[in-house]
Amino acid sequence: MYTVAAVCTGNICRSPMGHVILTQLLDEAGLADDVVVSSSGTGDWHVGEPADPRTVATLERHGYDGSAHRAAAFEPTTFDDVDLVLAADYGHVEALTSLAPNEAAAGHIRLMRSFDPALKDLGDDERQTADPWYGQEADFETCFEHVEAACKGLVRELEALYR
Ligand code: 4NP
Repeated sequence: MYTVAAVCTGNICRSPMGHVILTQLLDEAGLADDVVVSSSGTGDWHVGEPADPRTVATLERHGYDGSAHRAAAFEPTTFDDVDLVLAADYGHVEALTSLAPNEAAAGHIRLMRSFDPALKDLGDDERQTADPWYGQEADFETCFEHVEAACKGLVRELEALYR
């Protein structure tokens, strides 16, 4: 089983989008039994809460159901058996790296948008997923587009591994 953990700050906007979109795309690709997805936040303020209503609404506009999501805090034990940790922005890369038990574990951390093939020639500065939480509906829409493009790129790579 290939294990993916999407991580942002509150686990109510960016990483839930990654979690829900990846889960659905993997299902559509016939990889639901090969890849397991989770998500969490580096902060614990929203643990147990649903995703932000703007996250759920944005996902719904695009045909994804985020209504079952409940926020969780990132647990360092995630590193015990994870293949890929998808960090929303560079702050998460740094926070996760400091929680990793060793260099091998830290080596599983990637920026989520590094899987968007359209961004492959860009640097990490331009591959961060901006926090829409303080923003408007348009910021959630942009966030969705960025996360979905990254998830599509990742699923294409996983299809190459498993097909
Ligand atoms: P997320 O957005 O990390 O994309 O879920 C945020 C949600 C809540 C907070 C920060 C970012 N917060 O500070 O509570």
